[in-house]
This record gives sequence, structure tokens and C-alpha cells, in this order.
Amino acid sequence: MSDYLIAPSILSADFARLGEEVEKVMAAGADVVHFDVMDNHYVPNLTFGPMICEALRKYGIEAPIDVHLMVSPVDELIRSFADAGATMISFHPEATSHLDRSLQLIIDSGCQPGLVFNPATPLHYLDHIMDKLHHILLMSVNPGFGGQSFIPSTFDKLRQVRQKIEKSGQNIRLEIDGGVKVDNIRAIAEAGADMFVAGSAIFNAPDYAEVIRQMRCELAK
Ligand code: DX5
Ligand code: ZN
Repeated sequence: MSDYLIAPSILSADFARLGEEVEKVMAAGADVVHFDVMDNHYVPNLTFGPMICEALRKYGIEAPIDVHLMVSPVDELIRSFADAGATMISFHPEATSHLDRSLQLIIDSGCQPGLVFNPATPLHYLDHIMDKLHHILLMSVNPGFGGQSFIPSTFDKLRQVRQKIEKSGQNIRLEIDGGVKVDNIRAIAEAGADMFVAGSAIFNAPDYAEVIRQMRCELAK
């Protein structure tokens, strides 16, 4: 597969210079901006909301924005992020009472819907809703913080989800989030992922373009 997408998570960016950071990482060759929304309720951390997304759009960021909602409930924020200029919106199935309704809300808001699975969240949530999905996001760490290590059991889960996608005959992105580095990205792609979130691997490096170049080089092997 040649259309791999690299999505830097701005969770590890310098928030005091966020507009510049996003410009810089896009100029370094990234495809999508990954936007981690945490509410100190569904996850034990607090980040940013739709106002920051809107501010990035006003600043002139035209790249696709991939909003990863780690919040509960989700529906009100889906509406706000759609208005704020989000491109993709995903949420965790445990965080909403009405899974199908929340997915439909994303579709009706004109955004691309996705479902997120924590390391121990069962895949049965995919039953009955696959036809509504644009992407599936597998967490390879427990959500809430950047800079954690990739959980190895995710490889098996990636293969299972890749099989489900093939079986569905649909064109669904398989996104991986957590502990993605230059030295494991190839194995992650081989297990089935085609979209890669990387926070600390990119933003903690002195040269964003060099990390992204090395990642693409691994993916091309
Ligand atoms: C964790 C977030 C991730 C995180 C990834 O809850 O969803 O997007 O920022 O960061 P790294 O790449 O540092 O594991
Ligand atoms: Zn994320």
C-alpha cells in the first residue's frame, strides 16, 4: 500500500507557539494534524477544545484535522468540532450511550467518522456499524498521555481489524495511536495500519522533517 498517512499529535507540540508548530510539522512532510481532546473525566488529563481548532483554521492551517475525542459524553463536542473546522472526528464507544447516533451525528455534520479502541476494548463494537466508518483508530497505549510505550498485543489486534476491513469490502482507514517510532513503524504497517499518529517521536526531535523522512523510508521498505 502506498498511501500511508503520517499524523503528528500536537499533544507533544509547544502549546505556546501552536500555530507555528503546526505550520512547521506540515512543511516537514506530515499529512494530517492529530488533535487529542481530553476532558479530565473520560481520561485523567485535560487538553484543548474546539476554540483551539478554530484558532488554527483562522491562523491559516488548511491541512486535514483529525480530532480524537477522549471525552464523555461526546455528542455536543462533535457538533462544536464540526463547526470549528474538524475534518475527521473519532470517539471511544464506551464514552457514548448511543454509538450509532454519535456516528451519524459526525456524518450529518459533514465530517469523517471514526471509532477508537483502547488496548482492552473488545472489537465487537464494530458489529453493525462498519458501514458508517471512515476510519478505525487502535490505541497502542492507554489514552491520556503522550510518550508511552507501544503495547505489543496491539499487533494481533491490528491484524484482526485489518481482516475485518478486508472482509467488509469497504475502504476504511486503520489508524494507530501511541508509541509509534521510526523503529517500529514498519512492523506496525505490516500488521495492517495505514495511518500513523506520532507525538513525542516527532515533536521531541530537533528536526521534524528528518523523523518524517525516516518514517517514510521505513514504510517504503
Ligand atoms: C494518547 C494520545 C496520543 C498521543 C501519542 O492519549 O491519543 O495521540 O499523543 O503520543 P506518542 O506518539 O508520544 O505516544
Ligand atoms: Zn490520539
